Amino acid sequence: MPEELKQPKSTKSKLPKEPKIDKLVKEPKAEKLAKEPKTSEILEQPNAVSKDASEPVSLNKKQLIKKVEKLQHKVNGLKQKKNPNSDELDLAQNELDLAKKELNSHERQFVVVPDHKEFEDGVKGLKFQQKNQKQLTSRYSKEILEGNVVSTTGYKPNIKKHSIELKNVKKSYITGDLETPVLKGIDIKLDQGDFIVILGPSGSGKTTFLNIISGLDKATSGDVFVLGSNLTLLKDSHLTKFRRKNVGFIFQQYNLLTNLTAKENAEVGENLSTNKNENFTIEKIFETIGMTEQLNKYPHQMSGGQQQRVSIARALTKNPSILFADEPTGALDEEMGRKVLDILVKVNKEFKTTIVVVTHNPNIAKIGNTIIHIKNGLIDELIHNPNPADPSTIDWS
Ligand SMILES: Nc1ncnc2c1ncn2[C@@H]1O[C@H](COP(=O)(O)OP(=O)(O)O)[C@@H](O)[C@H]1O
Ligand SMILES: [Mg+2]
Repeated sequence: MPEELKQPKSTKSKLPKEPKIDKLVKEPKAEKLAKEPKTSEILEQPNAVSKDASEPVSLNKKQLIKKVEKLQHKVNGLKQKKNPNSDELDLAQNELDLAKKELNSHERQFVVVPDHKEFEDGVKGLKFQQKNQKQLTSRYSKEILEGNVVSTTGYKPNIKKHSIELKNVKKSYITGDLETPVLKGIDIKLDQGDFIVILGPSGSGKTTFLNIISGLDKATSGDVFVLGSNLTLLKDSHLTKFRRKNVGFIFQQYNLLTNLTAKENAEVGENLSTNKNENFTIEKIFETIGMTEQLNKYPHQMSGGQQQRVSIARALTKNPSILFADEPTGALDEEMGRKVLDILVKVNKEFKTTIVVVTHNPNIAKIGNTIIHIKNGLIDELIHNPNPADPSTIDWS
């Protein structure tokens, strides 16, 4: 389970401190930037101050990030007031939305890691590879988090079209002197808004694959671009930030907090979010998943299927771009399983959330519009399904 779900209150203190902005913003000479800039120079873009005071001053990326954080803080503060002034709140929210939009449209730099190294097979080579990756991570993690697209393979992802792109992704586990290769070189492109199902026999590497594309685990080598960030080169604290901002999780065991009501469990997700959306109120989400009557119930007062729906609600309150689910119906009977799949389909349609579901059940795979067959650590087949099945029509066993 991701640590942000385990310890909702304490995760903040683990985050690295934001460096002061005036320390970061240098003013390189103009002709230096005109040449091919090094990545360090790209990061230190000049402060774009307009000469004419009547013109709006355009902010660089770091300043924009700072501005968004400040405005988010202001909005949160206003919301927590006993009697919030709705005009003031609307104004602050508008300002925040505008700043976010500006930040999103800020051009991202594409950076290729120089000196691509080859490593010998076996545990010794793997250990060198890990060391090399660690160095690259400390070199590039921060700029990836800030929006630069950093590639170790030279491959340039199309981040406007694909929310997930993998290039030559490998994952091995080392136990003692033994290497267990699990993913053996995966290339794939997945589109924003798709309903993706990952299908394969037990032990084929589905969970490993899901964990790597969702930022719960890291690849041994290769590029894992998710929403433009190369997760392979993010350090752990930045991965946590990435997950908190962008993705939601649903597990086979629902992982609800037993002493909180359904609504309070969902609020845990909301409190962790940095990407809330006014349309995603908890009440609206519970209405969408048919759980309004269960809002104030405790987990032990609900069926497995209802608990799983609460965990979906918890994931959705974050307004994630991508929702990952590992065998979400694995612990449910047919009726409840269908209901949960129904809701995932509805969430995909209604909120345009990209959904990635892992299952070993080929019948369930039919509800996806993209079906990935994993076999023995490789993609065996990628199917585009123009007519996804309605969960109520699929055979269950
Ligand atoms: N932490 C680990 N250490 C060593 N081997 C692992 C680890 N996690 C998974 N594996 C191995 O990787 C393979 C794929 O596992 P997994 O991704 O969980 O498959 P699936 O989800 O398709 O059942 C299995 O052979 C499993 O034993
Ligand atoms: Mg699994």
